[in-house]
Amino acid sequence: MNKNKVVLAYSGGLDTSVAVRWLADKGYDVIAYMADVGQGGDFQKLKKRALSAGASKVVIHDLKKEFAQDFVFPSLKAGAVYESKYLLATALSRPIIAKGLVEVAKKENAGSVAHGCTGKGNDQVRFEVTIMALAPGLEIIAPLREWSMCSREEEIEYAKEKKIDIDVTKKSPYSLDQNIWGISIECGELEDPWNEPPANAYKMTGDPKKAPNKPTYVDIGFKNGVPVKIDGERSSEVSLIMKLNKIGGKNGIGRTDLVENRLIGIKSREVYEAPAAWILHDAHKALEALVLDRELLHYKENVSLKYAEIVYYGLWFTPLRKALDAFIDETQKKVTGTVKVKLLKGAVSVVGRKSPNSLYKKAMATYEAGDKFDRTVAEGFIKVWGMPYKGD
Ligand code: ARG
Repeated sequence: MNKNKVVLAYSGGLDTSVAVRWLADKGYDVIAYMADVGQGGDFQKLKKRALSAGASKVVIHDLKKEFAQDFVFPSLKAGAVYESKYLLATALSRPIIAKGLVEVAKKENAGSVAHGCTGKGNDQVRFEVTIMALAPGLEIIAPLREWSMCSREEEIEYAKEKKIDIDVTKKSPYSLDQNIWGISIECGELEDPWNEPPANAYKMTGDPKKAPNKPTYVDIGFKNGVPVKIDGERSSEVSLIMKLNKIGGKNGIGRTDLVENRLIGIKSREVYEAPAAWILHDAHKALEALVLDRELLHYKENVSLKYAEIVYYGLWFTPLRKALDAFIDETQKKVTGTVKVKLLKGAVSVVGRKSPNSLYKKAMATYEAGDKFDRTVAEGFIKVWGMPYKGD
């Protein structure tokens, strides 16, 4: 292993561009690694930027399909939602990016990896726990925790001094992290939890007030808990998510705003947009309600909470996550069918569901003619059920 070679998770932004140079100045041979998880942006332009900042090589991996298949859909099947409002887009992307980073480090025989996370967020934990689990021998460098620059202004000064090509003019006042599963928005005026997020904070969704007045209906087909069809047509994982992001975004679906508990102990104000993710979560839940029995459904709700914590806490590559996936996959064997959702002015409503495995029996439920429910047994059932609580 080459101790002087480092692979840096490179986003192309100010922090990681400065980090390239900072590592190079420390004597490292820096390889910039870019993982495409659907964040958008001009990869060729960013590649040039990394090289101009001092990287000796840039490696780009398209991880979108693997991300959808092996990270996003398992969390959808699990029903993982953090603190009721966060569908974990950022949290899910960190383990796959770190896994890619480790693969490149092995291939390039590098002794170290580096990331551009700050010292007070969750992402540093997610990156480093993944790296520790997958490649315990690699040294981990976190330049932002080490260098003395404390503000964006100081970094810009450094970049100017070192002639790193960055574009500071177009920088939004917010910190954004985007992938196919959603976008996380922080900083700027959002740091005051009393401030309503301004219109310019949103990127994936339009203002619900200005969304079409007519509802959009979409049929989503699931097989074993995984979405496979839109309006009857088969779709690959990534294009299905992208399509729903587009339709959902147009209808103003998927905005959430919360003060959340970071793993690191602080509370932070976060705004999220996740149109496809919310549509799919709501549809998936509705299908589960139709095909899972009460005890399994209720038990699984506890598992969903735990699963969300695991993802949020950076514990993806752990025995518990693997074991829970085995449980969840067992629960999804019957989760096949179609859900009809209605999208209208920021709201997604499930308006229909059907499945060959449906446990809904009209003859049992109906209040009309054709009722097959034996109401004579209800009386005895209630007597036994209420016995422990019967006052003397
Ligand atoms: N609070 C969210 C999380 O912990 C979003 C983090 C956003 N990360 C970022 N680098 N901007 O997952």
